[in-house]
Amino acid sequence: MFPERRLRRLRKRTMQPLFQETVLSRDDLVAPLFIDEAALAPAEIVSMPGQYRYPLTMIAEVAKEIAAAGIHAVILFGIPARKDAGGTEAYNPEGVIQQAVREIKLAVPELVVITDVCACEYTDHGHCGIVGETPCGPDLLNDPSLELMAQIAVSHAKAGADIVAPSCMLDGMVMAIREELDCEGYEDTAIMSYSTKFSSALYGPFRDAADSGFLFGDRTTYQMSPANPREAFLESELDLKEGADILMVKPAGMYLDILQSVCSLGLPVAAYQVSGEYAMIRAAAANGWIDEKAVALESLLAIKRAGADLIITYYARDAAGWLK
Ligand code: PBG
Ligand code: ZN
Repeated sequence: MFPERRLRRLRKRTMQPLFQETVLSRDDLVAPLFIDEAALAPAEIVSMPGQYRYPLTMIAEVAKEIAAAGIHAVILFGIPARKDAGGTEAYNPEGVIQQAVREIKLAVPELVVITDVCACEYTDHGHCGIVGETPCGPDLLNDPSLELMAQIAVSHAKAGADIVAPSCMLDGMVMAIREELDCEGYEDTAIMSYSTKFSSALYGPFRDAADSGFLFGDRTTYQMSPANPREAFLESELDLKEGADILMVKPAGMYLDILQSVCSLGLPVAAYQVSGEYAMIRAAAANGWIDEKAVALESLLAIKRAGADLIITYYARDAAGWLK
């Protein structure tokens, strides 16, 4: 008999798990949450069916449900009631995220709270930081935006965030945030950097959800080209050197090669299955064209197989149920 046939039969007799190389579990999942400062009731996000913007008054309740489902961490995104050019609401101690973090840590102290550190939900122009004239027209200004990011990160740490996750890929961003956190006494607050974030067309539904579309230009001057794997690896390596604790590849499913290479750096790596990836599975399933549970779990298993330690996914709550 061919040895591969013997192995297949052995596998069948002894049940799959004994030989299963990759195991997806609830321990891998991080649930994203949208909190809307102006909302009074949860509102379903049109382009992300099954996902909601929650009012602050409900957030402790939702966090309890998530923890009860066996999920260990959430990542928070805020929709402020007021926007301005400087994104000042992003570091307001009474801002939407700062309030949400306090509520969640009070209600479920064991739930790890990660906060997205960026300004695009808070600026009236929709860009991720401070905008000004550059030789190529109006665009994001790197250095003035660094200070803003450090200020936002410290305000989240003060509120009780366990991990801050800067998402705008500015040069020197991790170092600037690390210095400010240490200087303010938050040496234990970890940094999960969106270290390799592609300029992807898959963020569309998120921009509806978080109301963070931009009025001019695009994000190609600070996000990665999907065509450049070596540059993508270098970006993550730089963040490691600047002091990041956890790296990230985003989106996930179409970038498994990048994920695998970034994992070789040795730090924990998060993969972000983004809004467009969720919306595509959801929409095809709603049409009866694919089996939602099977495809969603297959997509998450593939991300795990490529090496991810953490998977940020809008399927977190469903998957936690399916994986019980
Ligand atoms: C903020 C941010 C974005 C996402 C996460 N953090 C939007 C963007 O870069 O435009 C996208 C997540 C998703 O699509 O699910 N900078
Ligand atoms: Zn942003």
